[in-house]
Amino acid sequence: MASAAERFGSGTALVTGGGAGIGEGFVRHLAALGARVVVADVDRSRAEAVADDVRAGGGRAVPYEVDVTDDAAVDRMAEHVFAEFGALDLLINNAGIETAGRLWDVPADRWRRVMSVNVDGVYHCVRSFVPRMIDAGRPAVVANLSSVGGVRTVPFQTPYIVSKHAVLAMTECLHQELRLVDAPVDVCAVLPHSVRSRIFLDAQEAAPAGDPDSDRLFGWMQDANVASGLDPVEAARHMTDQIADGRFWVFSDDERGADALRARADHLGRQTDPPDPRDMFEVLATDRSA
Ligand SMILES: NC(=O)c1ccc[n+]([C@@H]2O[C@H](COP(=O)([O-])OP(=O)(O)OC[C@H]3O[C@@H](n4cnc5c(N)ncnc54)[C@H](O)[C@@H]3O)[C@@H](O)[C@H]2O)c1
Repeated sequence: MASAAERFGSGTALVTGGGAGIGEGFVRHLAALGARVVVADVDRSRAEAVADDVRAGGGRAVPYEVDVTDDAAVDRMAEHVFAEFGALDLLINNAGIETAGRLWDVPADRWRRVMSVNVDGVYHCVRSFVPRMIDAGRPAVVANLSSVGGVRTVPFQTPYIVSKHAVLAMTECLHQELRLVDAPVDVCAVLPHSVRSRIFLDAQEAAPAGDPDSDRLFGWMQDANVASGLDPVEAARHMTDQIADGRFWVFSDDERGADALRARADHLGRQTDPPDPRDMFEVLATDRSA
């Protein structure tokens, strides 16, 4: 099997949400391998800061401002990338947002925004890039960011969890469709566990839940993310190796990823009720006071 450097080091990659967190980790790692990386983010200053820093270190990175919820803007980005660089070897559909709150308290516009970024955004990029990647006729990979939350259910973040289950289902279906046409393009499902990022902070800022249980859960997740989340570049290194290896299931943390899949299979196979959330909150209360 080719190493990540052999597979992607001389090509072009594009990372949506490349201006922070996991996406930034992918940008920095891929650039360190030698790839030219398009840093696509809705936040222009984040994209520029990451691209500037990569270039200052001798890497190749180009900022691109895009909102992945805008299908026409994603089309323009694909047109631009193929006109400029001729091909795309790795597309990482990473842009994603969180939200806190009981489902019945989530405002309709926040529900739509989460679905629009996390689900429609991946679809828009697939629709704009995959035909071009197939036509380019060379091996390429699409990596879609689901989550261990894509095989779990958790209260107080229902829109996010629904979106990540949807991305996983979309990715599995796409995998089958690409096989049917013998495409040179592979697709994989990326299920990170906890990687240091600003996802919970941004969510609480953009759409504060304002109820104590949601705040408690997000506070705990934010603390855990900062305290024990993986370094994004290290996580990206591990995940890029798996992508280069042609794996469908890609994890930041192999053990936790595999545990999540096993727990889901067991729950479905035994037809058990969803886990009692009171147990989870007791564990969180113990963890936070520890
Ligand atoms: N951090 C984790 O532990 C973790 C775990 C599982 C899955 N994930 C998934 O990884 C992906 C990245 O998450 P993160 O934690 O690094 O988040 P982050 O908030 O640190 O970074 C996300 C980036 O996406 C950008 N973005 C947001 N909306 C966008 C849009 N409409 N168009 C383009 N860019 C947009 C943001 O500006 C930001 O730079 C998400 O899909 C998330 O669901 C993260």
